Amino acid sequence: MSALKMTGALPKGPQIRTSLPGPKAKAIIERDRAVVSPSYTRDYPLVIARGEGAMVEDVDGNLFLDCTAGIAVTATGHCHPEVVQAIVDQSHRFLHMSGTDFYYEPQVRLGEELSAIAPMKGPHRSFFGNSGTEAVEAALKLAKYHTRRHNVIAFFGAFHGRSMGALAATASKVTQRKRFFPMVPGTFHAPYPDVYRAAPGTSPDAVADASIRFIEEQLFVSLVPPDDVAAIIVEPIQGEGGYIVPPDAFLQRLREITAKHGMLLVVDEVQSGMGRTGKMFAIEHSSVEPDVVTIAKGIASGLPLGVATAKSELMTWPAGSHASTFGGNPVACAAALTTIRLLRDGIVKNAASVGAHMMEGARSLMAKHRVVGDVRGRGLMIGIELVRDRQTKERATTERDALVQECFRRGLLVLGAGRNAIRLSPPLVLTTQQADTAIEILDQALTAVGQ
Ligand SMILES: Cc1ncc(COP(=O)(O)O)c(C=O)c1O
Repeated sequence: MSALKMTGALPKGPQIRTSLPGPKAKAIIERDRAVVSPSYTRDYPLVIARGEGAMVEDVDGNLFLDCTAGIAVTATGHCHPEVVQAIVDQSHRFLHMSGTDFYYEPQVRLGEELSAIAPMKGPHRSFFGNSGTEAVEAALKLAKYHTRRHNVIAFFGAFHGRSMGALAATASKVTQRKRFFPMVPGTFHAPYPDVYRAAPGTSPDAVADASIRFIEEQLFVSLVPPDDVAAIIVEPIQGEGGYIVPPDAFLQRLREITAKHGMLLVVDEVQSGMGRTGKMFAIEHSSVEPDVVTIAKGIASGLPLGVATAKSELMTWPAGSHASTFGGNPVACAAALTTIRLLRDGIVKNAASVGAHMMEGARSLMAKHRVVGDVRGRGLMIGIELVRDRQTKERATTERDALVQECFRRGLLVLGAGRNAIRLSPPLVLTTQQADTAIEILDQALTAVGQ
């Protein structure tokens, strides 16, 4: 019988009952190999049967503590009963009518709710798609439409998605770009400020300054005039790139540059938004107000939804200039409305307090394991960077991969970020006790990989 009940007390932590993968998981993975695109990146053989809160049960009855949230998505936990109820209720009313051709209230209400939480002064308007990459496409197209300019500046290490416009801005791993050239022309990249990897003794302000100088003294001087740039797109905390938190001055300086030259500042909150960092949006940790914010992942607790929210004065494109058949699906909107209410009612606060506790736990691993070079992040967006030598900071890539596997074997789900970091991005309902369990397992797994 299944170990995880739909109702009743949850098991406190992981329970591994079979070898991994178990027999049922193995059979499904075999079938998957035959019919599913091999382009997906599966780091370990988890075949989920059910999820509840921060726990996941696999098809063989093994229980895992989920510190991935399905890549930072299930903000309110797996299958939050109120989100499920909202989905069921909306499903009984209508599943689809295309919000781009007709009207329905859930989409309007979601626009209103997003306006209430948007990290810049209103009024606002929102464009609804189905994914992060569509949110980014919408933001970049809007910037081009509004400014009548062609070019975009993004950052090395950035991940903005895999459709062609977003992929052009993405500069994370070459595998993601190989054989897909040419990218959308007119996309330029600048260094993202990484304080940990700067020369010893460099102040955070100086690290930010180096990135800004690259834009002003290299890009603007040698490659692209600023009055031909439509937007700068930036992750307020770099996600796939390694959970890198930039110095405060960086985002402020980007705001100054974009304002000075009439470009839009697009803040990609697809991974860092919806409460993950202990505030609704990561940009709120700075005093910066963007022009456009892109949102997806956590917004609907697992249903597909991507949004570009902009100041109304910028979103003036005419009917037909951009749309999506499924974008703003009513069931996804219903899930998002409940998600936002739950986040505001306490889950964002939980992310801040449990995140601070978990960060302390992760930092304590540094004393015991020399391979842990850096621990950083905000709220429940925590990155742990592994290095072979704390002096040279040589990237511990194989050790990182081994650590992910060791965690899985012990019932803890984590994913890598960047070349040699792991990310902790659990559902935001994680308890202090579960955070402690995750750190204990990490401790054992680090010992097992011999570090
Ligand atoms: C910051 C950021 N932007 C955009 C995307 C693309 O989102 P999606 O995979 O939903 O297209 C991601 C996905 O990881 C992301 O982290």
